[in-house]
Amino acid sequence: MIFITIDRSQSISLTQQIYDQLRNGILDKQLKEGEKLLSSRELASSIGVSRNIVLEAYERLIAEGYLEVRPKAGTFVAEGTSLSFIERKKKKDLSKKNSESIKAFIDFKAGNPAIDYFPRKKWAQLSKEICLHSSEEVFGYGEASGAAELRDVLVDYLKRVRGVQCRAEQIFITSGATQGLKLITEMLGKDNNSIAVEDPVTDEMRNIFTFSKAEIIPVPVDENGIDPNGLPQTAPSFIFVIPSHQFPLGGILSIQRRLQLIEYAQKMNCYIVEDDYDSEFTYEGAPVPSIQGIAPNHVIYVGTFSKILSPGLRIGYVILPEELVDSFEKIKWFSDRHTSSLEQLVLARFIKEGYLDRHVRKMKKIYKEKRERLVTAIQQNFQHATIIGKSAGMHLVVDIPGIDFQPALIHKIQESGVKVYPIEQYSLEKGKHKERIVMGYGGLSLEEIEAGVQLLGKTLNQN
Ligand SMILES: Cc1ncc(COP(=O)(O)O)c(C=O)c1O
Repeated sequence: MIFITIDRSQSISLTQQIYDQLRNGILDKQLKEGEKLLSSRELASSIGVSRNIVLEAYERLIAEGYLEVRPKAGTFVAEGTSLSFIERKKKKDLSKKNSESIKAFIDFKAGNPAIDYFPRKKWAQLSKEICLHSSEEVFGYGEASGAAELRDVLVDYLKRVRGVQCRAEQIFITSGATQGLKLITEMLGKDNNSIAVEDPVTDEMRNIFTFSKAEIIPVPVDENGIDPNGLPQTAPSFIFVIPSHQFPLGGILSIQRRLQLIEYAQKMNCYIVEDDYDSEFTYEGAPVPSIQGIAPNHVIYVGTFSKILSPGLRIGYVILPEELVDSFEKIKWFSDRHTSSLEQLVLARFIKEGYLDRHVRKMKKIYKEKRERLVTAIQQNFQHATIIGKSAGMHLVVDIPGIDFQPALIHKIQESGVKVYPIEQYSLEKGKHKERIVMGYGGLSLEEIEAGVQLLGKTLNQN
């Protein structure tokens, strides 16, 4: 016999808890084949739950063949149920792991959106409708480029909000911007494997390029984005830019620099890859339209729903100049055939029926408030600090003169319960941004933002 324990603080149902423990007990041979179990009434009263809960767990185990009922004798562990031939791996001590990971950090990691605001109800309603009422084709293989419904909707949506100029045939739905960038690197790296990359830049995206063995050519970035005067003399396969809210420095690329970039791409006959990942959230002035809208033949535009909706959806898109459509189609098909059709259809309806606009408006207000709380907290705690790149997105940069955010200090800050990220971590040319950290606020509550800055202040003042 094994002891069944019930934890009412867990989100797992009581039936599931009993089911799990009995099933694991059988597989681990703590409950032997042929062993008689307590009656449902006895077990229920010994662990303090209603008999129906135990009965439900027993019925599932009977249906799955772990238990058998012998008339007038009781419920027994069925034959052939133990994993005698498999050395089961010792389970990790999950309780220990959980308590370690719960060590409450206030994590100012950039790029974490407020997932607690995901529009679950509407999404669930649309998912149900689409699942029940779509034609059968939806459940078969689709086009590599993605669901036509979503691509059609995106043509209008992106034209309206980002000034993007394209036809639906130029759009490919990808598993996030990450897959889009990986496939672009693969496609363009065949003939020329050098990529001009903003420095500093998100390591997550840069690692995609280095993983593909590309030669990275760093181009300096300042508070106004990439400096086109630093572009290489020989043509790279593409220039990777984040013009609407550079990561990490947060600059918005000026129109003069945008035009310089386009001139360079024309002259060198190379592409600009424009990552427009959090452009919907602009708090000061009107959003600057995409570079793609000015030079659609020279720009590959990459977008994502990870920031405006949820990274868990894994839906992004790539918009290509016409001449690259066929190559990209092959590469996407070989990679994963296509992105999940059902989610694409849900998203298409979500956009078409105006829910995305509503959600973005709501989130903009929420992020704006978080941003203001962070700015105020920084100003109160660090009188000499300068805040950079706060006019859009979900992160900003703090420059504190006289503080060198070297690894030992970052570690000390972390020990106080706060995680911040030094700009140097994202820099190829080291030593230019020692006094700067990036702070993301999208996924934190107002209280966490304030508490986090105060803790940071305490550590830095001791230093
Ligand atoms: C610069 C940049 N672009 C795009 C993304 C989004 O990637 P994905 O769409 O794969 O979630 C991220 C993720 O944090 C990012 O930092």
